Amino acid sequence: MFDREYFDAGLYRIGTDCEKWDGCRKREGGDVLPMWVADMDFQSPPAIREALLRRAAHPTWGYTEVTDADIDAPRDFWARRHGVSVTREEVTLLPCVVTGLKLAILSLTKPGDGVIIQSPVYGPFRMSVQATGRTLMDAPLTADAHSRYTMDLEAVERQCRAGAKLMMLCSPHNPVSRVWSREELQALLNVLNRYGVPLVSDEIHADFVYAPARFESVLSLQRTNVLTLCAASKTFNVAGLQTAFMFCSDEAIRTRYQETITASGVVSGNIFGVIASRAAFEQGDAWLDGLLDYLDGNRKELAEQVAEFLPGAVLTPVEATYLAWLDLRSYGFTCEELAKRTAKARVVFTGGTFFGDNGEGFLRVNFACPRRNIGEAIRRLKNALEA
Ligand SMILES: Cc1ncc(COP(=O)(O)O)c(C=O)c1O
Repeated sequence: MFDREYFDAGLYRIGTDCEKWDGCRKREGGDVLPMWVADMDFQSPPAIREALLRRAAHPTWGYTEVTDADIDAPRDFWARRHGVSVTREEVTLLPCVVTGLKLAILSLTKPGDGVIIQSPVYGPFRMSVQATGRTLMDAPLTADAHSRYTMDLEAVERQCRAGAKLMMLCSPHNPVSRVWSREELQALLNVLNRYGVPLVSDEIHADFVYAPARFESVLSLQRTNVLTLCAASKTFNVAGLQTAFMFCSDEAIRTRYQETITASGVVSGNIFGVIASRAAFEQGDAWLDGLLDYLDGNRKELAEQVAEFLPGAVLTPVEATYLAWLDLRSYGFTCEELAKRTAKARVVFTGGTFFGDNGEGFLRVNFACPRRNIGEAIRRLKNALEA
């Protein structure tokens, strides 16, 4: 059922106040093709819709308990799909992953403390450090001749030596689409452990990994001084329902985290978010397997389109996520210029500088859309670059 035809059908989303389409049209006008924010143009699994409709039909929505089954759903999903087992006590419900990142910073560091990130990386990593009054300590990723990125562990170690108190890892990595191998993760942990620096690993993209790459959670390697963040939000496109989870086996960290949650007044457990997450984790496997097949085809389509129409562009190999990192530096435009040109050509991407200064001249392409839109987007991008 969840075959090419199903995903090719896409979804008409205009008029739902969705950021991706309606937000973009407000800024850029109609007929613009949005290839930006990490949100997919497909129906979420039918089981989610059915569960939400069933609960919505009962006409009152008072305070509602989060049950063991609600917590077991993500636990079982992670054990089933990623080989990671956690107990119920090790799971904390959160409103969203970015809140989870900020809570980690607030719990494990003090104002002014250094927090390591690896740019280019999802903008809210940097913004969370800044918003909490901590000091940004960058250990930028490095790209090889094929634009494949790796960690610079010497830079991480330099920042540890300079006094960093926490590191934030994006795994798999947005925007450079890397799946960190077990060896790479172990090497990183070895450095951090030498200095006693805890690690928060944002694993929201764990489900989007293309063979032969294999996702490894940091929890498969180490249970102390680490915590991970995950959600159904990206995997099943339910980000508007604002529900995420922290997994942490380190009791001391969990206690500090819980104290921060209490002090900051963060409240989780929106009825619909909890119901959707449970339905997704319990019943979403077949839909997700179909989606991954389709996205794998889209990933290939994008590479072909870029090779054919954008000879000056370099596409970073896509090992994970539905987000591709496109190096357009040879065309000589800044991200600001690229934004103007692409808007004029009626297509919108995420500018590389959202991910750090070293993203200047890059665009991030969201390919979680009906396959036909990819060719169209690349043709519009070609027009933008040649105008
Ligand atoms: C790496 C990463 N973390 C977190 C988020 C946002 O998650 P949430 O909406 O749960 O805060 C995104 C969204 O694109 C992301 O790419």
